[in-house]
Amino acid sequence: MRLVFLGAPGSGKGTQAAKLREHFDIAHISTGDLLRAAVKEGTPLGLQAKAVMDAGQLVSDEIVLGMLEERLARPDTAKGFILDGYPRNLAQADALEGLLARLGQPLDAVVKFEVPNEVIVGRCEIRYAAEGRADDHPETVRKRLAVYAEQTAPVAGFYQARGRLVVVDGVGPVDEVFQRIVSALPAR
Ligand code: AP5
Repeated sequence: MRLVFLGAPGSGKGTQAAKLREHFDIAHISTGDLLRAAVKEGTPLGLQAKAVMDAGQLVSDEIVLGMLEERLARPDTAKGFILDGYPRNLAQADALEGLLARLGQPLDAVVKFEVPNEVIVGRCEIRYAAEGRADDHPETVRKRLAVYAEQTAPVAGFYQARGRLVVVDGVGPVDEVFQRIVSALPAR
């Protein structure tokens, strides 16, 4: 099963990807996690990415695509994968089509999470208080939501036009959202 999870910051992509990864025994690839790991290690790429991430903006397409290519080359992706947080703009969606065509690994579905902004702001506030993730500061969350609306939301149309978009209500208990996703996925 090869999936993309599309949704605003805080819509639950990471939470649900962790559950689906277990369910299907596939790899969970979060470009946000890969970038945060680079920041933590203090690599040159991480240092470059940190300021951009803290401001709630998108890291450059080249950097993220390079990281993704490297990650997809690892053997744990053989049974499938969930891309969580990639693609985030139309250029990335195009690049992914090319990359997956070269690898002979087309996507099965793109799951879009629908969650109202006020719910998202609430979730990120809770996480900010608990974990202190810099980009969960309420002002930065608003910036991330604006970037999502402007750059990422059009990606849904890209996949709808290719017949791969599945839309899921992301509000409610985590297990219920999980069941909605599993029921909405194409049969294999
Ligand atoms: P990234 O890490 O991808 O952040 P994001 O998409 O903004 O996602 P979040 O982790 O905030 O939200 P999520 O949808 O995964 O929700 P989660 O499950 O965590 O990216 C961070 C930054 O990296 C970007 O801003 C950008 O700078 C850079 N970046 C990453 N990818 C990039 C790319 N492709 N190109 C360029 N730059 C890129 O849930 C959120 C909270 O809600 C959690 O506390 C969770 O416990 C809670 N929650 C989840 N589900 C529920 C539920 N059903 N009910 C109640 N609470 C819930």
